[in-house]
Amino acid sequence: MLRVTVLVSGGGTNLQAIIDSVNNGTIKNTKLVGVISNNAGAYALERAKKADIPAFVISPKDYESREIFNDALLAKVKELDTDLVVLAGFLVRIPEKMVHEYSHRIINIHPSLIPSFCGVGYYGLKVHEAALAKGVKVSGATVHFVDEGMDTGEIIFQKAVEVKEDDTPETLQRRIMEEAEWKLLPAAINKIALNS
Ligand code: GAR
Repeated sequence: MLRVTVLVSGGGTNLQAIIDSVNNGTIKNTKLVGVISNNAGAYALERAKKADIPAFVISPKDYESREIFNDALLAKVKELDTDLVVLAGFLVRIPEKMVHEYSHRIINIHPSLIPSFCGVGYYGLKVHEAALAKGVKVSGATVHFVDEGMDTGEIIFQKAVEVKEDDTPETLQRRIMEEAEWKLLPAAINKIALNS
């Protein structure tokens, strides 16, 4: 069984897609061992609780320095005996020490076709605002391994999604979630679980 810890910051629709996929057998050979949020108000925490997954808040605000926060995050991931860390809308930079200790064992979902609209400053709705400002006709989502850079790790899956004439950042975000993110992230976890 692949032991998966999911890191979240917000609404947790990608977390929900993972929970549903484990429950309906789309993701095999996997146990969700914990959900960690940096944000105490994240609705993702409620989703974890409803699914009986242990949920934890580890916020930089609660620690004296970023280094102590980084250590606390890594310690919790280790305590959960994690095989794979999944970043599902986690908006905090992963500590370098954790990237090294979990090399090729951390994956992230990003709401664009990397290398477009990614890197520092591109997260959440900002990604879709930038895509619409550029006038691209196709966007999408990418699941990739996490390395030392920002959105630079090896790509696992990508899916293109059409941009419509009358899209707003919100409608584009929603379509990319529905058509790409909620499928790609479970598929990537399943792929890793079957190879582990
Ligand atoms: C998702 O669209 C995810 O791709 C994005 O944040 C959203 C989280 O939604 N992640 C990033 O922008 C990472 N750079 P969710 O909390 O409903 O899953």
